[in-house]
Amino acid sequence: MGRRIEGFDLKVVVITGASAGIGLAATYKFIAKGFRVINLSRRQCPNQDVMSIATDLSNPAFFEEIGAELLTHVQGADAIHLIHNASRYLNDSALTTTDESLTSVFQTNVVAPNTLNRHLVPSMKSGSSIIVVGSTLAEKAVSGCFSYVTSKHAQVGLMRSLCQDLAGTGIHTLMVCPGFTDTEMLRSHVPDDAMDGVAAMSAFGRLIEPEEIAETIVWATENPVVNGSVIHANLGQIEQ
Ligand SMILES: NC(=O)c1ccc[n+]([C@@H]2O[C@H](COP(=O)([O-])OP(=O)(O)OC[C@H]3O[C@@H](n4cnc5c(N)ncnc54)[C@H](OP(=O)(O)O)[C@@H]3O)[C@@H](O)[C@H]2O)c1
Repeated sequence: MGRRIEGFDLKVVVITGASAGIGLAATYKFIAKGFRVINLSRRQCPNQDVMSIATDLSNPAFFEEIGAELLTHVQGADAIHLIHNASRYLNDSALTTTDESLTSVFQTNVVAPNTLNRHLVPSMKSGSSIIVVGSTLAEKAVSGCFSYVTSKHAQVGLMRSLCQDLAGTGIHTLMVCPGFTDTEMLRSHVPDDAMDGVAAMSAFGRLIEPEEIAETIVWATENPVVNGSVIHANLGQIEQ
């Protein structure tokens, strides 16, 4: 794990959901740039250079359990980049989803990011950032994933409000919206025989590699000029 060396900046990345997929791909890029990387997820991050703090973001009390440890590891950092990447995806409908189920998806996708923002922003110096990993479904809807679409739209509001309320701090925020990316999340919701059809929905006729989104996330942390923006990273999705 990256440590403070006399005379060098301590740069920290806190990323949710780095045990797999896009989050895991991002850890390799941040480690290569000399960051201390802290993963928050239920499983360990397979990247041995990453510190994992086990937590379930669907638990409303998650921060009470891990907050003290997390704050210890970001203390004194010259820059902190907070990446809200973990999300819950259910196949559900606007006509039948219970309030309890919607609340539970919001806890992971919207409330947990708010909890982390509230507790980490006081430790964040100018040059830090908060990046939200959204989705194409943050700005449009398809049928059959009501709570995901609703929570991804809410993440846009969270990010835009954050931008306004962070004015003057030197901390920037934005949303990176991946298209169809080859990860567990996609493969657990799309049958193998439908994958070619999904790939054909990009103008490049292929799925996105998690590393491509990871590169976009790193770029997002480095470019405050895009503060408040929603950046689509989907290879040019073909609209149906
Ligand atoms: N893949 C796509 O096609 C696609 C498209 C658009 C947007 N996205 C967005 O990209 C982001 C990353 O998705 P991915 O495709 O990389 O998914 P993934 O491979 O399934 O990884 C999801 C990560 O989120 C973590 N996570 C899920 N629920 C959690 C919980 N309750 N508490 C803590 N961590 C939790 C998982 O860790 P544990 O299981 O270890 O807890 C895992 O590390 C998500 O925000 C997703 O909405 C993905």
